[in-house]
Amino acid sequence: MRAPGRKSGREAAPTVAARLSGHVTLETHADGQIVACFDGFSVGLGTFSASAAERAQGLRAGLPLASFASGRNTDKEIDLLVRRLARHGLVEYRLRAAHNDEDRVVIEPQVADYWPQTPRLDDADVIVLSRFAYMRRRGNEMVLESPRAGALFKICDPKIAAAVASLSTPQQIKRLRRQDGFPGIGLLALMVDCQILFKVGAAGDSGLRSSEGDDSLVLWDFHDLLFHARSTEGRHANPLGGFHPYAGVVPPLPAVRPRWPGKKIDLRKFSAAHSRAISPLARLLRERHSTRSFDDRRPITLAELARFLDDTARVRSRWRSKLDLGGDGPMVAYAPRPYPSAGASYELELYLAVDRCDGLARGFYHYDAGAHALVPIGARAQELEALLAGARSAMGAPATPQILITIAARFGRMAWKYSSLAYALVLKDVGVLFQTFYLTAADIGLGGCAIGIVNIDLFAKMTGIAFHVEGPVGQFAIGRGAESEASS
Ligand SMILES: Cc1cc2nc3c(=O)[nH]c(=O)nc-3n(C[C@H](O)[C@H](O)[C@H](O)COP(=O)(O)O)c2cc1C
Repeated sequence: MRAPGRKSGREAAPTVAARLSGHVTLETHADGQIVACFDGFSVGLGTFSASAAERAQGLRAGLPLASFASGRNTDKEIDLLVRRLARHGLVEYRLRAAHNDEDRVVIEPQVADYWPQTPRLDDADVIVLSRFAYMRRRGNEMVLESPRAGALFKICDPKIAAAVASLSTPQQIKRLRRQDGFPGIGLLALMVDCQILFKVGAAGDSGLRSSEGDDSLVLWDFHDLLFHARSTEGRHANPLGGFHPYAGVVPPLPAVRPRWPGKKIDLRKFSAAHSRAISPLARLLRERHSTRSFDDRRPITLAELARFLDDTARVRSRWRSKLDLGGDGPMVAYAPRPYPSAGASYELELYLAVDRCDGLARGFYHYDAGAHALVPIGARAQELEALLAGARSAMGAPATPQILITIAARFGRMAWKYSSLAYALVLKDVGVLFQTFYLTAADIGLGGCAIGIVNIDLFAKMTGIAFHVEGPVGQFAIGRGAESEASS
């Protein structure tokens, strides 16, 4: 006889408890303000009633999400508090063992708006691991993660790790239930929500790659998507940036490589003669430098911006060519621009966050490289501000750049042709474009600075484009350099 409620999504949802992350403490002030303190920082979370403040102390051990979903006033306050903590990445979610208080699984959010969801799963559903999911050792722990997932799962119960591993082939939930260590339908649903698992259709394991997602996802290799999501900001909670994590562990490598032992051929006497007649290009290469502060009394003009974009990124010609694959290959269109691009892909797009430009309104624009035109995009003011503030902080600059160019890649354009090296080629194209920007800025008399860090989640929100379809891979600030910078 079937146990009551076992058949489907009617099954009780798992008891998921919100718990403060290990490094966070909550302080309640006399006026009811609750402040989260972590790593020498503090974040105000708002003013709460005395009963909510008392209940909030339960977040150290964990409060079941269901326990504050009643709609009562204190519960509403706790719900608000936990959501605010979640937005700052200060909570995790635990599923505990039934027979003791030990963690079975701990869900660590990776994106700011992650909230545990359990989509409906039925016994007849067939599920399989995403080809982007992986399990690995992190210190003494086992973690299950994916660049697509809004959260990672720390697996504390080895039986769950084994059950997840068995999902490398599609399995019907009905069959999974019979296995020792069935993790529970609720946990599976949490993993489906994070796109670590996905439901496959009646076709079973045929066409799994395409059944996982949309047409753009099919173009991604595992390592490329992982590299993109982990080497940018917005979709993971790992430390990121110039933190010098190995200072004190290993010494820095020398600035210039130690010489090979062979007999050296001195080039100085050859280049000395050359330096007397320095070419305009060599001069530009020497003059080029990074500018991080801008003269806001004399912002860049629209005419200068138009010239900058014309010289660096405007489509120069168009041509088409039939792909020779031995049969009836497709026609491929090309639109070359002033800089070189791997496979003539020209997959890079420019998005401009304009703070100050004489003749152009503050806002967010796409550069249409074919038409040599700017097209406004209706991004929210606070998102525009966050984008500009991120650049200011990445440059350690005193003020916002006049214009921040976000270089976004249409990944599929490159990946359609190149296997395994598509993302590496995109980044090489970004380097080529950076230098083109630097030289052109120097030529026009503008200041510029490359920025290595980009927030792919923020860009996805501003454009409404999924992070794996078209997303930022580099940024460049331009404007009129402040006097001290311009003359340095
Ligand atoms: C790929 C790349 C990423 C960079 N990222 C940053 C950055 O995030 N913040 C910053 O202030 N400068 C950044 N820079 C600028 C470098 O710090 C700068 O080029 C370097 O210090 C040499 O100085 P110069 O450009 O004035 O010659 C970046 C440069 C490159 C090429």
